[in-house]
Amino acid sequence: MTTAVIGTGGLGSVIARVLAAGGETLRLSSADRASAQRLAAGIGHGAVAAVDNHDALGGADAVILALRFTVLKSVIDEIADGLTGKLVVVPSNPVGLDAHGNVQRLLPEGQSSGEVVTGWLPAGTRLAMAFGSMSGNVFESASNRSPEPAALFYVTDDDRAGQQVERLIRTAGFEPVKAGGINQSTRLEVGGDLHDLVVGPAKARSLIGEA
Ligand SMILES: NC(=O)c1ccc[n+]([C@@H]2O[C@H](COP(=O)([O-])OP(=O)(O)OC[C@H]3O[C@@H](n4cnc5c(N)ncnc54)[C@H](OP(=O)(O)O)[C@@H]3O)[C@@H](O)[C@H]2O)c1
Repeated sequence: MTTAVIGTGGLGSVIARVLAAGGETLRLSSADRASAQRLAAGIGHGAVAAVDNHDALGGADAVILALRFTVLKSVIDEIADGLTGKLVVVPSNPVGLDAHGNVQRLLPEGQSSGEVVTGWLPAGTRLAMAFGSMSGNVFESASNRSPEPAALFYVTDDDRAGQQVERLIRTAGFEPVKAGGINQSTRLEVGGDLHDLVVGPAKARSLIGEA
C-alpha cells in the first residue's frame, strides 16, 4: 500500500523509516523539497520525494500530516481537494513554545485537537489521530518490540478509518489500541495520560477505561 507523509522533520522522518521497514511504499513531501529528497534517498527502495504536497497524494491510500499544529490548517487547505477517499492521519500535538522557550498548549483547556482538525478537513474525509503519542526517539525504539509488541494508541470516529490506521500501525511494528473517539485525542498528546507510554496491548487496553 502507498502512504504520503507530508512533513519530514523530527517525527515525519521516524514515521517514514518505520513504515518503510514494514514494507509500505512512501511518497514524501516537505516545505523544502531537499529535506524530503534526503529522507527518500536515506530510505532507498520504496520511498520517493514528491514534487509538492499535492503531488504526494497521487496514488496514496493514506496521508500522514507530520506537521506542527500551527501549519496544519494551511496545508490542509492547500491539499483539500485531494483528500477525498483517503485516510488522513494526524500526529500533531497542539503545542508550541512561549517567549521563554517553555512548551505551551495552543488550544483552550478542554478543547481537543481532534475536534479542531475535524473542523478543518473537507466533509467526508476519514480522520484518525495517531502516531503522535510518543516522542520520536521513543517511538522508533519501541517499533517491532519483542517478544511482545508495544501498543500504539489512536482515536477516530470512523470505523473504516480505524481499520486503515490499524493496518498502518501494524506496518510500523506496533499493536493498535483504540483510545476512543476523536474527542479523546487529548489523552494521546503531550501532557495526556496516554502520552509516551511504552506498554503491551493488555496494559494499554486496561488503561483506556481508567481515565
Ligand atoms: N518530534 C517528535 O518527537 C514528536 C513526537 C510526537 C508528536 N510530534 C508532533 O509532530 C508534529 C511535527 O513535529 P516535528 O518535531 O517533526 O517538527 P519539525 O521537525 O519542525 O518538522 C516539521 C516538518 O514540517 C515540514 N513543513 C513545514 N511547513 C510545511 C508545508 N507548508 N508543507 C509541507 N511541509 C511543511 C517541514 O519541512 P522542512 O523539513 O522542509 O522544513 C518539516 O519537515 C508536531 O505537531 C509535533 O507536535 C512530534
